[in-house]
Amino acid sequence: MHHGHVSHQTDGAALSDQLAAALREAIAPSNVLTDSDLRATYETDWTRRFHGVAAAVVRPGTLEEVATVLRACGEVGAAVVPQGGNTGLVGGGVPRAAAPRDERGSPRPQLVLSTLRLRVTEPVDEVAGEVTVGAGTTLGALQQHVRRSGWAFGVDMGSRDSATVGGMVATNAGGVNVLRYGAMRQQLVGIEAVLADGTIIRRLPGLMKDNTGYALGPLLAGSEGTLAVVTRVRLRLVPALPRRAVALLAVEDAGHAATLAAELRRRLPTITAAELFDDDGMRLVLDHVGGEPPFGNAYPRYLLIESAAISDPTDELVEAIAGLPSREAVVANDEGARHRLWKLRESHTEAVNAAGVPHKLDVAVPIGRIGEFDVEVRKAISRADPSARTFVYGHVGDGNLHVNILGPDPDDEAVDDAILELAIQMGGAVSAEHGIGVAKVRWLVPDRGEPDVAAMRAIKRALDPHDVLNPGVLFATPRAPG
Ligand code: MLT
Ligand code: ZN
Repeated sequence: MHHGHVSHQTDGAALSDQLAAALREAIAPSNVLTDSDLRATYETDWTRRFHGVAAAVVRPGTLEEVATVLRACGEVGAAVVPQGGNTGLVGGGVPRAAAPRDERGSPRPQLVLSTLRLRVTEPVDEVAGEVTVGAGTTLGALQQHVRRSGWAFGVDMGSRDSATVGGMVATNAGGVNVLRYGAMRQQLVGIEAVLADGTIIRRLPGLMKDNTGYALGPLLAGSEGTLAVVTRVRLRLVPALPRRAVALLAVEDAGHAATLAAELRRRLPTITAAELFDDDGMRLVLDHVGGEPPFGNAYPRYLLIESAAISDPTDELVEAIAGLPSREAVVANDEGARHRLWKLRESHTEAVNAAGVPHKLDVAVPIGRIGEFDVEVRKAISRADPSARTFVYGHVGDGNLHVNILGPDPDDEAVDDAILELAIQMGGAVSAEHGIGVAKVRWLVPDRGEPDVAAMRAIKRALDPHDVLNPGVLFATPRAPG
């Protein structure tokens, strides 16, 4: 590692003169942020639980600039943390709290590489039903961009106005329509990315079928910035379904919600979402955003169902839920009423965040065991921390629960451990959609097993032998190259 004159002092390792000069040569100085006020929003995650100090935040505007930044960082042993909209929830997109270290034990400078300026959008390929967009395009902008084509994008989620397509691919984001269209990996038909050494890999053919060797796009999807910086993606589109109806069902428990959702997936071909929340969560949301509760009575759990079709799916939805044993139900088919029901679910993230620094555990649970998990997880949390407040919500239709805890200190991992251990014990996974990040690094081996993780490490070593990209994410301690 180069030890030059310190041009910018930070808590971690500083930017050396050599790196500072290389960056300023590659990118306009206004997009190399070293001032701590300018860096701040890039250094802390959305929950405030994860943060670190960046020697600089760089915002390349072109593919070539991304490659130059990676080469320059590689040359001096700096670490690069790729970041999109900074809506990730497991600390993978912000600098590490404890700076990564080189072989001699010295802290390495960490740079945030923001992809927000990579925003070129190509026209929709209306014949193929595909579109190519820059990594920094937000989900909301993508949705807007395809709107008039008669096509739509198959992934949707509450963070749509900030989350970027590149970050969503890198984390294999899921959201509310996975039971219908799959997560980000399933939307990907092509990718352009820069490897750690600056090599550009590109496959943007727009072919529905393309069986030519290892599929690099799907490998990068969910690699959480550890293998490459995604710069551009080609995405499949789905037919736009302009007519929607939403039902909210009051149910007894989470198991009941899961069974009803499973039943509706079979009976209701127009279903696009099946979401769960509990009464405590709904009260927290109503306190935070205002509005009236949907029912006169309080019920233990709520199941939100959405249907979408070319023509109004209300009758079909009403008929499908009529035969189901729910305590009470409401159906909304005008925009305002639908929005109010969705808000009860979507505002959980914001309402919980406003009440404290949450511990957010995003687990997958076998659908048949969701009821049991919801009961057991609350017991396990009380044992670990009797004063913790628990909110369980999520995408019950695809077996993904978000266990949110308020109370424990951000660094106290006792409740996290209890929840993740239970998820594994019950045949689930420690992450369904948010990823491993830095939050769940200790849980990768217990969940996946040594052989899987050894194979992952081999891929990491092959593509990033000097551990330039996102060290500390996915794997605890980098192993010596070779
Ligand atoms: C959600 O489903 O609301 C998102 O994954 C964010 C969260 O878990 O709060
Ligand atoms: Zn979610």
